[in-house]
Amino acid sequence: MDTIGEVTADLRSNIAAEARAKILYERLINLTDDVGVKDALGFLMTREVAHQISFEKALYAISNNFPPGKMPPIEKYATVYYNMSEGNDMRGSWNSDENFTFVANPEPAVDGGDGSASVTLSAAQKANLDNLANRTASDPSVNPVTGTDLGSVPPVENEAVKKGTTKRKTPKK
Ligand SMILES: [Fe+2]
Repeated sequence: MDTIGEVTADLRSNIAAEARAKILYERLINLTDDVGVKDALGFLMTREVAHQISFEKALYAISNNFPPGKMPPIEKYATVYYNMSEGNDMRGSWNSDENFTFVANPEPAVDGGDGSASVTLSAAQKANLDNLANRTASDPSVNPVTGTDLGSVPPVENEAVKKGTTKRKTPKK
């Protein structure tokens, strides 16, 4: 069991996992002609239905199940629908005037910025950023041995591995 420490988020996560698992079992059933395997997979697929029903009931047995967590949403963004799609846009309860304030042609940056990926940094923040960029810079001259080289059966025929010309990437100063 995986938990984020908030039961309503855990239940929603588990409901999604059960839904995906059912689809996976359906696809596995289609891959085999073995009657016994089909039977076992059919049982497991069906149990995912039972688990979804149970988890949904558990979720909706909690009256204050939304939104998850302790902090309230920021009111002005909580029920606004920004129509970012192009083309023949469908309207329904998921973006209706009844449930949302529908913004038909929103500005690219809904928080009021200019839409560009810019940020103002202090000198200390800039120094940290430069250090990070240096430390994590890619070295295009190396051909490192990785887990895929080591774990492949048979091993990947990597010319650099055969020649012994690979080297570990060393962080720049
Ligand atoms: Fe399940």
